Amino acid sequence: MSNSIPIFILGATGYIGGCILSRLLAHPEHETFAITAFVRSAEKSEKLKSFGINVVQGSTDDREKVEVLASQAHVVFSTASSNDVPAIQAVIAGLKKRHESTGIMPILVHTSGAQVINDQAKGMYRSDTIYDDMNPDQIEALPPNQPHRPVDIKVKEADIEGHLKSYIVIPGTVYGIVSSALVDAGIQNPYSKQIPMTIKASVVRGQVPMVGKGLCVWTSVDIDELADFYIILFNSIRKDNNRVGHGREGYFFTDSGEYSLYEFSRTIGDALVRLGVLKDPEPTAMSDEELIKYVGSVERGNKVGANARCRGNRSRALGWTPVKTTDDMLKSIFPQAQATLQTLSK
Ligand SMILES: NC(=O)c1ccc[n+]([C@@H]2O[C@H](COP(=O)([O-])OP(=O)(O)OC[C@H]3O[C@@H](n4cnc5c(N)ncnc54)[C@H](OP(=O)(O)O)[C@@H]3O)[C@@H](O)[C@H]2O)c1
Repeated sequence: MSNSIPIFILGATGYIGGCILSRLLAHPEHETFAITAFVRSAEKSEKLKSFGINVVQGSTDDREKVEVLASQAHVVFSTASSNDVPAIQAVIAGLKKRHESTGIMPILVHTSGAQVINDQAKGMYRSDTIYDDMNPDQIEALPPNQPHRPVDIKVKEADIEGHLKSYIVIPGTVYGIVSSALVDAGIQNPYSKQIPMTIKASVVRGQVPMVGKGLCVWTSVDIDELADFYIILFNSIRKDNNRVGHGREGYFFTDSGEYSLYEFSRTIGDALVRLGVLKDPEPTAMSDEELIKYVGSVERGNKVGANARCRGNRSRALGWTPVKTTDDMLKSIFPQAQATLQTLSK
């Protein structure tokens, strides 16, 4: 298999990374891929080997290992963390070595998140600012200390320095319960974070939490449609990477529907009332103490409750045509609430 494409996946047991892996395994050309997954759990590593891929057990805290594995890859899918600067530096260092030793330009597809465009609204108003991935000046004007931005900057700079071609995928809230062979095998996390996190906080609090008045607006994307995008991007790069924006032009928002944080919280309230867990579906604003308790800090809490409006025009220009809407996201909340309550009862 000397002509196979070496692909390295960080986060293959995760909600997003597992979906990328499933799509690669089902890809019509999968026999030409030599996939290596980097997995923390020994048990999951063993199970994943039965899917016919190479699995290396380890943590991204082991920078040397990450660098060596990246240096052996032509394509890296980075989905383990959007905040771990040393880990992405290890990936970049490995890909730089790959470039120097082969002369071939490696590909880095990194997953960021829409918190990168959060504002200071703290739930108090709906912003008119909509970020457009066709407008790199607008994205590049983001403060360097925005969430995820330190990692995104490293990825983009590595592209500009000429060691690799970078593609940064920026999803809003990803929703939907994954159904896959990897989930059935107990390897992949089937759940997103944001919706279960709010459901769990609602159960503990006895009321659904919200930041400020919940007037801010976020975007969402269905997990299957997000996975579609990664493969469309991957196929487009392989077909003719000169036609796909990269580096400064390589930001890709994946949005399909907007929702106000009030309607998001209220829908969780309705689901939890229907399931007999809450009496009142109406969300209430979190105090500073609650922001610390449920989100980690007041600053992080306010970021979660901010505006994050964006349009993936560059993503759509590659042929990505998501059809799911805000209504689909809101409808996904009830089954997610059932699943989260089941998890809590175990
Ligand atoms: N889900 C969303 O709504 C959403 C939206 C926007 C952006 N994102 C971003 O997308 C990325 C992936 O999110 P996700 O929802 O797929 O999260 P997830 O389900 O928690 O998956 C994270 C994956 O990374 C692995 N991982 C984490 N730390 C690691 C470490 N130190 N060493 C090795 N592997 C490690 C996890 O392995 P284990 O199985 O061992 O835990 C898991 O495979 C995150 O950076 C997140 O911020 C997510």
